[in-house]
Amino acid sequence: METTRLRLRINGSEREVSADENVPLLDVLREACGLKGTRFGCGVGECGACHVLVDGVSTPACDTPAWTAQGKEIVTVEGLARNGQPGALQQAFLEEQAGQCGYCLSGILATASALLARVPHPDEQQVRTALDGHLCRCGAHNRIVRAILRASKAGGQA
Ligand code: FES
Ligand code: FES
Repeated sequence: METTRLRLRINGSEREVSADENVPLLDVLREACGLKGTRFGCGVGECGACHVLVDGVSTPACDTPAWTAQGKEIVTVEGLARNGQPGALQQAFLEEQAGQCGYCLSGILATASALLARVPHPDEQQVRTALDGHLCRCGAHNRIVRAILRASKAGGQA
């Protein structure tokens, strides 16, 4: 496999990495950039654990060749923090104690952030529909939905 040079904009910073030409975005984020908040789950685009924002769209990083994200704005869960503190959406998750093991949460936070950017005040059904592709093995879905609704009432998307 050929090695290529990738230029990516991640959480507001330009990053340049060498990688195999078809490397998944998830590997670049976790291994080359050390952004371990984004998780590997199924590896085939079916569990939602690896979602990040790419130009505001919640995207499975395991199933996205990194080269296709060049020239786009990539935001990981680390990029949802504000001045080293949890952003408004993350704060709502803390207040609702919306995670147990937390493995699914970085992907869910990406999808929730995209939803609230698109629909600032979703109803419960809209939240559940948006989360359709995300598995939570701990069964914390109800608290996760409450956290997103709480964030929407507080007017916070990130
Ligand atoms: S690890 Fe990407 S969707 Fe499961
Ligand atoms: S909180 Fe454990 S998988 Fe969702």
